[in-house]
Amino acid sequence: MTLGFGVVGTGAIGREHINRITNKLSGGKIVAVTDVNQESAKQTVEQYQLDAIIYPDDKALIADENVDAVLVTSWGPAHEATVLAAIEAGKYVFCEKPLATTAEGCMRIVEAEMRHGKKLVQVGFMRRYDSGYVQLKQAIDKGFIGEPLMIHAAHRNPTVDPRYTTDMAVVDTLIHEIDVLHWLVNDDYKSVQVVFPKKTRNALEHLRDPQVFIIETKGGIVINVEVFVNCRYGYDIQCEVVGEEGIVKLPEPAGISFRKDVTLGTKILTDWKDRFIDAYDVEIQDFINSIQKTGEPKGPDAWDGYIAALTADVCVKAQQTGEKEDITLEERPAFYRKNAVCEAVVKN
Ligand SMILES: NC(=O)c1ccc[n+]([C@@H]2O[C@H](COP(=O)([O-])OP(=O)(O)OC[C@H]3O[C@@H](n4cnc5c(N)ncnc54)[C@H](O)[C@@H]3O)[C@@H](O)[C@H]2O)c1
Repeated sequence: MTLGFGVVGTGAIGREHINRITNKLSGGKIVAVTDVNQESAKQTVEQYQLDAIIYPDDKALIADENVDAVLVTSWGPAHEATVLAAIEAGKYVFCEKPLATTAEGCMRIVEAEMRHGKKLVQVGFMRRYDSGYVQLKQAIDKGFIGEPLMIHAAHRNPTVDPRYTTDMAVVDTLIHEIDVLHWLVNDDYKSVQVVFPKKTRNALEHLRDPQVFIIETKGGIVINVEVFVNCRYGYDIQCEVVGEEGIVKLPEPAGISFRKDVTLGTKILTDWKDRFIDAYDVEIQDFINSIQKTGEPKGPDAWDGYIAALTADVCVKAQQTGEKEDITLEERPAFYRKNAVCEAVVKN
């Protein structure tokens, strides 16, 4: 069966997902679209020559019987209402992050999904589908480095939009590390403290940059994540896990090495879209395949959306207080399994 997608939000990532479902992946078809900007929805249908109905809003789109799955790519504050309406109608949901802008909102989605009685929702945390992170996770799970003790990570952007504010370092940037790192070491977060090093002169007046987040897990692992969004030299994601018996490190993205002008080098990417382009393809293909094979999505779920939202709230608080702040998660319901390796990427 082909999975019929209804897309809510035809902006940048909505169009990218439409393109990959239509032209790159198998098993899915765009059957409906909507956007508060109806002109954008119309342009999208024309641009990708879609055989899709343009609806005035998400409610009408969800009610279409040909829509099996709702792809939520609208602005963050609109996600919760659409996801809840889709669950109510018993439709599958692929929701770009954030699942909801508050932990309470995510919890409402968790409760609605549990009431429905079957998993419907996947959240767009694509790093779990990046082959580098999957290799790290496999090595850790197999005990290759013994017990993990520390993680050193960095998230660097060359530059950011002038509207980027200090808290966006958490909700737009660190959010991906928040999701992937607890999954990587199969642990839960316990506390966070934020340290602001000397400020770069390349950051605008209103922005604290760089920032270092020191996160402790319940198991005692200490994680430091540098967020540096005016690093100038490129888009650079680093992750090194230090264990009792050794160290594993995220591979660098593939690229030719060159010898030129008395330099031996490799180009560094500048655009985040290029860094995780394969992971986006794999995550959506996995969403389609899992539903077709098992009737449920297997990727990051609504509980992971809740963990991310709650942890992000505490990280923002820690930015403001400068103190070590407790991350107190609700108990994970049995409905939500823990930290499975993304089988779509794992070959052995
Ligand atoms: N996983 C990732 O790495 C990643 C990357 C980019 C964006 N995102 C997330 O995807 C979402 C969209 O980001 P974007 O960059 O495409 O933004 P965008 O502004 O380019 O597009 C959003 C679109 O949603 C529409 N919209 C807003 N509210 C709506 C509503 N209630 N109903 C229907 N349409 C509505 C807007 O008109 C716009 O066309 C954001 O939540 C963002 O955080 C995730």
